[in-house]
Amino acid sequence: MKIAVVGVGYVGLVSGVCFSELGHQVVCVDKVAEKIERLQAGEAPIYELGLQPLIVDNLDQGRLSFTTNTADAVQGAELVIIAVGTPSLPNGQANLSYIEQAAVDIAESLSGYTVVVTKSTVPVGTNEKIREIIAARTREEFDVASVPEFLREGTAVMDTMNPDRIIIGTDSVRAADKLVQLHERLTANIVITDIRSAEMIKYASNAFLATKISFINEIANICEKVGADVTQVAHGMGFDKRIGSSFLKAGIGYGGSCFPKDTQALIQIAGQMDYDFKLLKSVVEVNRDQRFNVVRKLDLLLENMEDAVIGIWGLSFKPETDDVRDAPAVEIISALLERGVRVKAYDPVAADNFRKQFGKDGVEYCSEAADAARECDALCILTEWSEFQHISPAQIESWLKRPYLIDGRNIYTEEQLAETGLVYYSVGRPGMNQGLREPVPTLS
Ligand code: UDX
Repeated sequence: MKIAVVGVGYVGLVSGVCFSELGHQVVCVDKVAEKIERLQAGEAPIYELGLQPLIVDNLDQGRLSFTTNTADAVQGAELVIIAVGTPSLPNGQANLSYIEQAAVDIAESLSGYTVVVTKSTVPVGTNEKIREIIAARTREEFDVASVPEFLREGTAVMDTMNPDRIIIGTDSVRAADKLVQLHERLTANIVITDIRSAEMIKYASNAFLATKISFINEIANICEKVGADVTQVAHGMGFDKRIGSSFLKAGIGYGGSCFPKDTQALIQIAGQMDYDFKLLKSVVEVNRDQRFNVVRKLDLLLENMEDAVIGIWGLSFKPETDDVRDAPAVEIISALLERGVRVKAYDPVAADNFRKQFGKDGVEYCSEAADAARECDALCILTEWSEFQHISPAQIESWLKRPYLIDGRNIYTEEQLAETGLVYYSVGRPGMNQGLREPVPTLS
């Protein structure tokens, strides 16, 4: 099948590359010339496991190409996939200007029956707007469909090649048939819905996962007060099939390019219809506050933070990605700098991105984990990179000036800590706190 993918961000690039790997003929188009040049040379502009070799291989096989010219990509394509960004506007609403521009550009180049598929996360009703924009500009026959994307950063290729489900939202049998055919080499549940329901499925899924995370984070906060262990609680809850064990890892909250943006957008969508989505508003508020637990714990440990040196391990919003969008590290480090702290930071891959996007002075970026811990008054772990899990707490203790370790992702076990004199705080595991000023609470 001949496919054009408009927008070479995370979703567009990974989808385009994976469809070429499945044997389709794919042209990806983006307005950013530098990105396209790098891709034409076989270089992935993002850090994503397994993506680079697939790009090179499919370029070599002639199934994949990249261009800055929308007309070249769209002419002759049976399917055009819109995967441009929908960033948040200041009020939390999704900015649809890239989507609308893409629809205009596509309309001008359609030739013969085409299915225009939206993979970007868009508010309910957007695909119908896309249809109006295109219909006003072409006489060619076309249908629209919403096929939301559920890939996670870090496992994007694996998720795309092994999806739990494929949602096809369309009011055209012809388009649905074409999209079933597009995915026929994948083994996944295919769910055909109307367009608006497909658009809603994406928001509802992300909002539900964000809710699970904020829920377990609040349970962790309560565990700290009553002396229970949130990892044991989550383990016990997870065996109930109605609950499931995933997305119950307590920590310093969710970040990234999707959950923060999509939860805000859904609150706005509901609000525009005069519906107050109270539950989701609380989920967002809990998440915003959870990251500051790290700072509060430091406040408790260090009498005076001014002139303290704090080490930070992990800048990306989660492991296996260099993405720092809405990463908890941004606000935590900002709060520390406001307290007059000097920060030393290390991340296996995200330091360059962080430096560019953070743009504030006062952070020393280290090229090794040890350097970011050495001679620090405290070390904070903000991302659970496996590299950190392989460094023993005893080793960390030997590097630190004062033995304070704040583990925002619960990466260490009781056994690993037993041999150390570290003062250790994690999330929702008060029994593991060592050297606390406040004793573990009891329910007497
Ligand atoms: C998410 C959705 O999972 C994906 O389906 C959608 O297409 C895009 O948004 P992504 O943002 O890449 O994917 O990462 P994900 O693995 O879902 O993690 C999101 C955030 O939640 C991370 O900051 C992670 O640290 C946090 N998280 C996740 C937790 O704090 N606890 C958990 O149990 C799971």
